[in-house]
Amino acid sequence: MNDRIVRLWPGRGPAPGPGSGAPGSGAAARPGTVPSDAAGAGAGLSDAAGAGAGLSDGELSDAYPVGPGPSLRVNFVTSLDGAVAVDGRSAGLSGAADRRVLRLLRTGCDALLVGAGTLRDEGYRPVRLDPPRRAWRAAHGLAPYPTLVVVSQRLALEPGHPALAEAPVRPVVLTGERAPADRRAALTAVADVLVTGEGTVDPVAGLAALRERGLARVLSEGGPRLFGALTAADLVDELCLTVSPLLVGPGPGRITAGPASPPRALTLRHVLAAADGSLLLRYARGGPNPPGKSA
Ligand SMILES: NC(=O)c1ccc[n+]([C@@H]2O[C@H](COP(=O)([O-])OP(=O)(O)OC[C@H]3O[C@@H](n4cnc5c(N)ncnc54)[C@H](OP(=O)(O)O)[C@@H]3O)[C@@H](O)[C@H]2O)c1
Repeated sequence: MNDRIVRLWPGRGPAPGPGSGAPGSGAAARPGTVPSDAAGAGAGLSDAAGAGAGLSDGELSDAYPVGPGPSLRVNFVTSLDGAVAVDGRSAGLSGAADRRVLRLLRTGCDALLVGAGTLRDEGYRPVRLDPPRRAWRAAHGLAPYPTLVVVSQRLALEPGHPALAEAPVRPVVLTGERAPADRRAALTAVADVLVTGEGTVDPVAGLAALRERGLARVLSEGGPRLFGALTAADLVDELCLTVSPLLVGPGPGRITAGPASPPRALTLRHVLAAADGSLLLRYARGGPNPPGKSA
């Protein structure tokens, strides 16, 4: 597994303080950053300017800070030509570095929000976190595991789906008033089913319902139709986007889908490059773009 990553922009900042939070470092975790990989601090990571000095786990974690307040962070991987999947799944686009960042982002959220299509197509498994990550979460006032939240209008979800039935914490399903009553009843055996809309789920009401349950920091892993609805409601605070060095060609859709909505501006926060040729980009609300770019 080669998850080597190089920082392209911004340049190297101040060295992390003693509390970088790297697992096994023996140091107290820095508030707001999460352990990125329990396999070993800095393993396989390299800083572009550091000639092999290597980014520590804390440094990589610092690139994906977790704010204290409510937030919606979205994570996707795309091909160079904008495809969301290869043969119907994102796995063909994702490499070791992308998966490493995905684990890091899951560690720092209260809720993991996915559309039902993604749960069905991507073969979701119950969220598992190793002891260092659970310890980090405990030290930062987070529950041991993030709560899986599935968005579905039709509730075409099997209660026996492993991601639901074997979840370490009881999942939440967001649906609309017109969802079939029998499916709703069946799902209540394994999940809390919340009605936050009429036909489709109202994303604003859905996130508000999660906040009421103490699930303020939300990570969405898609998919495209859910992302489209979140964008249309202007709820996206941050996009973590991996660009995979592949031309997939015509066929698959983009990372967003659904009815058209106004463009939303985000600001570039970092550009990392992985050894496999992927770019790991983070964009967030607010602040100026780099010189020469307009927000
Ligand atoms: N590249 C990546 O990072 C990435 C990430 C995720 C997914 N994907 C790919 O994306 C494809 C799936 O696309 P998709 O658009 O179907 O994914 P999706 O957005 O996860 O699923 C769409 C389904 O989610 C539910 N849904 C979404 N928004 C809703 C809303 N506002 N209200 C009620 N229900 C809502 C509906 O479920 P019901 O049908 O149950 O009503 C809808 O049919 C797959 O090929 C997957 O591999 C790629």
